Amino acid sequence: MRPVLPALALMPLALSLANLQAAPVQFESEIFPFLEKKCVECHRAPYKDKNGKVVKPKAGLRMDGAWAILAGSENGAVLTAGDAAKSELYLRVTLPPEDDDFMPPRGKADPLTATELDLFQRWINEGARFGDWEGNTEGKPKTPPTPPADAKAAPAAPRSEIQQLYHRLSEGLTPVAEEAREAVTAAGGRVLPLARTSPLLSVDFRLTAAEANDEDILSARGLAANIAHLDLSRTAATDAALALVRDTPRLVRLDLSNTGIGDEALKHLSGLKELRYLNLHGTAVTDAGLDQLQSLISLDAVYLWQSGVTEAGAKKLRNALPHARINSK
Ligand code: HEC
Repeated sequence: MRPVLPALALMPLALSLANLQAAPVQFESEIFPFLEKKCVECHRAPYKDKNGKVVKPKAGLRMDGAWAILAGSENGAVLTAGDAAKSELYLRVTLPPEDDDFMPPRGKADPLTATELDLFQRWINEGARFGDWEGNTEGKPKTPPTPPADAKAAPAAPRSEIQQLYHRLSEGLTPVAEEAREAVTAAGGRVLPLARTSPLLSVDFRLTAAEANDEDILSARGLAANIAHLDLSRTAATDAALALVRDTPRLVRLDLSNTGIGDEALKHLSGLKELRYLNLHGTAVTDAGLDQLQSLISLDAVYLWQSGVTEAGAKKLRNALPHARINSK
């Protein structure tokens, strides 16, 4: 007789081992509890504070509902299902804690623990599925944000202002050649599409940071026309690197924080008609350089904290760009 019994006896062990390896991370029980504790306070539906003032979610990003996490921030998608390394949501929590972009902001909430980071990474890499969890559906658009495959036949989903901007900037723009992209990667940069099907690009040098010099940065010249976001923060960029932005008419976000750039560099910015966000935090820029920004009327936000700019200089810029947020403290 064949020994059926011992094999059966081993089954439960084999099953539980398989479970250990394969059980997908559950959003509601394993992910949301720490997001709720450490992120949602700042990333939630608009609400009125005790003075009746409406508090909006930071960066337009809500993390209190599945649809909202998928919708992303005012800068676009924050989650790439299946690829944590391309997900802003994950990148922000894995930066060095002293980085200005680190989430949660220092001192505001506890950083994610090693276990939470591991679960978060696995959950995204496994496809970022929410299961039955919907969370807060307040504000959810009636039409789904991602158009169906046959997009032409379906009515277009309503677009936010920033989506309209990116749509306009994408019109007639051809995707960049692979070689142009590779030149940047070889120089230590990262090139990511703004959205899955967008020809617009986000370029940063965060992986090499202090080692990225002007030459490395100028490797992005070959794809300049497609760059919408450029992050040179913490690189060794000098004023010369900014020659790059003379060829980036679609630039919307420019982060120069914590670099050695100064007033000279800002001369190169004068042609940036679409620029909304400019971060000069921790640079050598002074009031004289700031005068060059007065014509950049598309600017929504300028960060000047810990630069050489005085309060008087910041005030002058505020007067020139009354609708922009000029952060000098
Ligand atoms: C105390 C408030 C606060 C908390 C808590 C917080 N954030 Fe933020 N978050 C901000 C602010 C302010 C910004 C916008 C400034 C910036 O881009 O750094 C931001 C921006 C972001 C962005 C960038 C969105 C974009 O596309 O520009 C992401 C992603 C993000 N937060 C994720 C998180 C995660 C994940 C957590 C929890 C682990 C978290 N945040 C906790 C305040 C907060």
